Amino acid sequence: MISKYSNQKNKINEEEIKEAAEEIKNGNLVLFPTETVYGIGANALNAEAVKKVFIAKNRAPDNPLIVHVCSIEMVEKIVQEITPLEKKLMEKFWPGPLTIIFNRKSEKIIPNVVTANLDTVGIRMPSNKIAKKLIQEAGVPIAAPSANISGKPSGTKVEDIIEELDGKVQYILDGGVTDIGLESTVIKIDNGVIDILRPGKVTKEELQEVANQVEIDLHVLGKVEKNEKVASPGMKYRHYAPNTKCMMVYSNNEEDMINKINEITLDMQNENKKVLVLGREKHINSYIVKNKWNMGGELEEVAKNIFTLLRKVDKEKVDLVIIEGVGENGLGLAITNRLIRACAYNYIIV
Ligand code: TXA
Ligand code: MG
Repeated sequence: MISKYSNQKNKINEEEIKEAAEEIKNGNLVLFPTETVYGIGANALNAEAVKKVFIAKNRAPDNPLIVHVCSIEMVEKIVQEITPLEKKLMEKFWPGPLTIIFNRKSEKIIPNVVTANLDTVGIRMPSNKIAKKLIQEAGVPIAAPSANISGKPSGTKVEDIIEELDGKVQYILDGGVTDIGLESTVIKIDNGVIDILRPGKVTKEELQEVANQVEIDLHVLGKVEKNEKVASPGMKYRHYAPNTKCMMVYSNNEEDMINKINEITLDMQNENKKVLVLGREKHINSYIVKNKWNMGGELEEVAKNIFTLLRKVDKEKVDLVIIEGVGENGLGLAITNRLIRACAYNYIIV
């Protein structure tokens, strides 16, 4: 079936959102923008529709989907209870880029395929106007993973993903480039302690304003060993990685970092190997290599650009991509989490 390309670029065209919502109600898939990344949406109450998402993405069936809602009533229908801490978090960060893992009601409203048979369900309320309106019009929660074939960087603009997803979804709502560029922060709460399973725009520092104890799961920066048990199935899978070999280099001393990157570049060039460097705006002129891309100035800009840049590196036909690390403070943790996966854990801290 041919997808409809509505090209709304953030202007809400109510008619098109209604058409897309009809597709959701009919058990079909819709590509839609959120404030984080694009999602491939299906009616979260319809197991057959959700199965199509797994097929479209070639996603492992043990990796659960996030359920997107537009009201607290929708959450109440799905979860066992909302604790006072969860309520506080929802008030502070919703609508927005925070996914909370809840216990599912025993009568399973959300089918098992969505949650990969877990007793828990990840829920978030997006703030993007098109996403919000789509859920409202569909009148059902929407299960949606990031829009990409599994393993590839998530889609932050339609142009980046149209090729790999065309024909796999029935309707495309184009809202332009997504605001944040990285997927939501995923958290689980245990006895009042917040565990960050996937870092995102809502930072550890911001979560600490609501809860006394906020922990970063071991696998946010650590490698998952074969057969190791993980808190979030998504941690196990290869993600964001270009086919070209990538390496992240970081030091909290900027000069050391630049010197190390230049040293690796020289070594490679001496062996007649081609290098591409992805660096921050403030450092880009210090790199000796000709082929270099500006990742952006502030961390917000880096977050917004990084997936599009990672999607382009294979076209350069280089032997190594060296990517500047950004540290772990604030939004840096989320960017670092994506970068070390893009580099398949090939990184140096100097
Ligand atoms: O920003 C986002 O979160 C985007 C947009 C579309 O909302 N969605 C997204 O979905 O990134 P996805 O499927 O690419 O990533 C969801 C992550 C996976 O790592 C998955 O394992 C984890 O959330 N997850 C979902 N439900 C879970 C659960 N019940 N327990 C633990 N982890 C869960
Ligand atoms: Mg994803």
